[in-house]
Amino acid sequence: MLITFEGIDGCGKTTQIKLLKEYIESKGLSVVTVREPGGSDFSEQLRKILLSSKNKVGARSELMLFEAARANLVDNIIKPELRRGKIVICDRFFDSTTAYQAFGRGLPLDFVQKLNLFATDGLTPNLTVYLSISLEESKRRTSRQEFDRIEKAGDEFFLKVIEGYNYIARQEPDRFVVIDASGSRQETALKVREVFEKRYSAL
Ligand SMILES: Nc1ncnc2c1ncn2[C@@H]1O[C@H](COP(=O)(O)OP(=O)(O)O)[C@@H](O)[C@H]1O
Ligand SMILES: [Mg+2]
Repeated sequence: MLITFEGIDGCGKTTQIKLLKEYIESKGLSVVTVREPGGSDFSEQLRKILLSSKNKVGARSELMLFEAARANLVDNIIKPELRRGKIVICDRFFDSTTAYQAFGRGLPLDFVQKLNLFATDGLTPNLTVYLSISLEESKRRTSRQEFDRIEKAGDEFFLKVIEGYNYIARQEPDRFVVIDASGSRQETALKVREVFEKRYSAL
């Protein structure tokens, strides 16, 4: 089973992935967690290039580097772990590219979505948890952090990213489950568990 987490910075992906991993492991199941971009040696190197504020990266090269990192992660980590019967949880996956590069940067949506599936060789998550918060809440939660190259983009960009996530939610309501993540960590964790249980038992 492949589970991915999506949402803007500060929505709680890292926090909730850790809590869900602990919950699933407490049931005696085996979980592997990875993050995007990154997760494999090659892709972690691309992550540094992509997120460094020193680099000037245009939208097209950004898109292709994200997809290159994804393809490597899928081939070298995600698919082998799934074959071993593991539950794989990924912090961001191709919906981030749809939201950030197609909606945020304005690259053509149909092309981005085709490239997404090319990069994953057709692999699609069994469940995507979208942690929905407002841009204001995102800013409150990340106010003390140092921002990377993409996080530094302005409000207009992130509003388009949110619009992109809302678009995916309308297109694929079955896979892409929207959770209101504006409450406490524990409140959100309970909602995430519920969604996981429902999907896991249906597989
Ligand atoms: N439900 C919540 N309420 C308030 N703060 C939260 C909540 N969930 C996470 N945080 C805090 O907000 C920040 C960002 O959370 P994090 O899990 O790193 O989000 P993401 O990985 O999506 O950027 C962290 O400091 C985290 O402790
Ligand atoms: Mg995080």
